[in-house]
Amino acid sequence: MARDARGSAAVALIRLHNPPVNALSLTVLQALEDGLKRADADPSVKAVMIYGENGKFSAGADIRGFSSVRGHGLGLGHLVSLIEQSKKPVVAAIEGVALGGGLEVALGCHYRVAHVKARLGLPEVTIGLLPGGEGTQRLPRLIGVPAALDLITTGRHIPATEALKLGLVDEVVEENTVEAAICLANRVIDQPLGPRRLSLKPVPKLPNMEAFLNGAFAKLKKQARGFLAPELCLQAVRAATQLPFAQGVRRERELFAVLLSSGQARALQYAFFAERAVQKWTTPRGASWRSAAPQPIRKAAVIGLGTMGRGIVTSLVKANIPVVALEQNLEYLNTGRKAVMLLLEREAMKMEQGTQTLGFHDPARLQFTVDFDVLWDVDLVIEAVFENMALKKEIFQKLSKICKPGAFLCTNTSALNIDEIAAATSHPQQVIGTHFFSPAHVMRLVEIIYGHHTSPVAIATAMQLAKALKKVGVVVGNCFGFVGNRMMFPYVQQAVFLLEEGSRPEAVDQVLEDFGFKIGPFRMSDLAGLDVGWRSRKGQGLTGPSLPAGTPARQRHGQRYSPLPDLLCEQGRFGQKTGRGWYQYEKAGGRTAKPDPWLHNFLAQYRDTHRIKTRSIDQEEILERCLFPLINEGFKILAEGIASGPEHLDVIYINGYGWPRHKGGPMFYASTVGLPRVLAKLQKYSVAHPDVPELQPSALLKKLVALGSPPLKDWVSCLSQPSNKL
Ligand code: 3HC
Ligand code: NAI
Repeated sequence: MARDARGSAAVALIRLHNPPVNALSLTVLQALEDGLKRADADPSVKAVMIYGENGKFSAGADIRGFSSVRGHGLGLGHLVSLIEQSKKPVVAAIEGVALGGGLEVALGCHYRVAHVKARLGLPEVTIGLLPGGEGTQRLPRLIGVPAALDLITTGRHIPATEALKLGLVDEVVEENTVEAAICLANRVIDQPLGPRRLSLKPVPKLPNMEAFLNGAFAKLKKQARGFLAPELCLQAVRAATQLPFAQGVRRERELFAVLLSSGQARALQYAFFAERAVQKWTTPRGASWRSAAPQPIRKAAVIGLGTMGRGIVTSLVKANIPVVALEQNLEYLNTGRKAVMLLLEREAMKMEQGTQTLGFHDPARLQFTVDFDVLWDVDLVIEAVFENMALKKEIFQKLSKICKPGAFLCTNTSALNIDEIAAATSHPQQVIGTHFFSPAHVMRLVEIIYGHHTSPVAIATAMQLAKALKKVGVVVGNCFGFVGNRMMFPYVQQAVFLLEEGSRPEAVDQVLEDFGFKIGPFRMSDLAGLDVGWRSRKGQGLTGPSLPAGTPARQRHGQRYSPLPDLLCEQGRFGQKTGRGWYQYEKAGGRTAKPDPWLHNFLAQYRDTHRIKTRSIDQEEILERCLFPLINEGFKILAEGIASGPEHLDVIYINGYGWPRHKGGPMFYASTVGLPRVLAKLQKYSVAHPDVPELQPSALLKKLVALGSPPLKDWVSCLSQPSNKL
């Protein structure tokens, strides 16, 4: 505790110090309590000011401590009450972040001063919890139920200016926050503290409180898809409206304990750390985030303004990186330009300062061209032309000649070989895959694929770029489909096999949507367009006239193959774009999927033709047949060293494939189901379907079960022991 003797009175300063984010560990809570007690006992101290070291107030409770700490929330609540009960005014000086327990500490203070760049919020819901330091009871009393419910159930971080408008802070300053807080503390010495103690305030009334809460509950329930925390957050806020403060706090603690012991909180906290762990990338050849410094990207280019290029340009502009957008001819350029402008205008409308900030009408920040020569000075190019190897090679050859030698050449290919593309250039070390997901200005994932020659600096630069675009980059090796699409293939394949065996698209989708996926495989296929996969299968010679004569309809290269998607395409059923696919839609481009009697009939005829006996398939089988082969492929990817740990696969699935975050990702999910069970089920299904290699359990899965299912963090490292070689 330091002293400040400005003016006539002494303000005791309490500094939170626990780098890097001043998390409230038990040691920090104890030190804060001791500091407060000393300040209260010292007659020369007239006010107290709490601030955080390194320009950060606090990011809340120490998330790493949850698994080992009993009643963490309870300890924090006790401290927050203690602050509020102090006989001397306590002022919070909020710089950087005041999140979770950090904001709850600030709510215990009698006054709050925030720096204009500070961000505040109660993000506990995002890690499967609720604010357990009495925040669900104090915040509604301060800013009213609607605003409090919004912050608590979404977990969003708000800027200080919004916090001021809501009444969450008393002052916002542009300069020295600590000075401003000390001034405020001096001004309020000897003023009555009762009106500043939030626990004593009533919750502001709404004329229709019950109806409002019921409406909010119905909305949350619809969006939740099995995610528990938002619902319990609402119950805690409801308690604030119905019970006296102390009883409300008891209810908050009960609900917090329910969430803390739930598997969902564990999964979400795993996901939080997994997203940070993948930033610390390594490759099997020993390159790592420590060994390479990213290069600055002052100017970028995007080649191809189709579905993906448009979103990528938008993301670059939003990140304030000047972009050159290039198309093959003026007609495509004009279409692309219009589409990009529309996206940017929509983005600008969402931003506070709008187009002025994005500045996309300035040709120095966004230039459209058909002339490759313009690209001589860019630092990085992202190619997003058609998925065609010959075309990509032609473009890379051209780029290699025109761009400066240090320029990074990235391809957005979803499956093609990075090494083959790199071989078309004279600088293969500068070539790297940056696989964005559609829509690219929205989806957070970027798979960063290194080829044989890719330099560590190129990887570091691509990762840095992903960060600048506010996306999550995950470094993976080069193989067909990379990680995400390679794991997706057996999932989609099984979904179609299930139709052959007796199921329907709506039944399969329902099971996977109940599991928590935003959208099931058939609705997804209709949305993306069945023709995309059809073209790729034709290219691989799996369907169409290139098939060897006499190939059995349901086998390719001796393995089971379902021609169902190809047959639908032959009927012109490409999904939403044609108004028909696995479902029917009100019109071409329609969005509302309705089960289609035509398709049911078609499936029945198909089974007759191929003499497949229809059987009833239960929900458990649907779930396991779709998810376990996807997980199995994940184990193969780990064994091949394509990804350096299970967290990588999980981060990819959570951010790029709609895997429910509260289930932690496929590999985490496998660890919760239990590896012996996953193995036993794969063995059972592979016996029933011997012509499906994707159902054969992977060597790594078998090894891990034989080793007694070590914890997920040891799945890859245990292979380094000679006795555990596969
Ligand atoms: N506990 C423990 N570690 C934390 C932490 C926390 N609350 N918040 C961040 N960290 C760690 C990160 O793991 C990372 O560690 P690493 O360097 O070893 O990888 C380091 O701090 C820096 O974090 P980021 O890489 O995320 O840094 P950014 O600058 O990008 O973001 C942040 C900073 C906005 C504070 C972000 O870390 C964040 O959102 N943190 C979580 C905030 C949160 O959820 N708080 C609620 C906690 S639960 C709670 O308070 C319960 C209470 O109500 C009872
Ligand atoms: P698209 O067909 O929508 O757009 C491709 C664009 O490239 C067209 O506008 C075309 O005019 C342009 N183009 C073609 N040749 C060109 C040339 N020589 N010079 C300049 N521009 C040229 O394709 P889409 O969907 O945007 O895909 C692009 C790449 O991204 C492909 O490699 C694809 O596999 C990959 N991808 C696609 C995803 C998707 O969901 N559509 C998801 C992830 C990756």
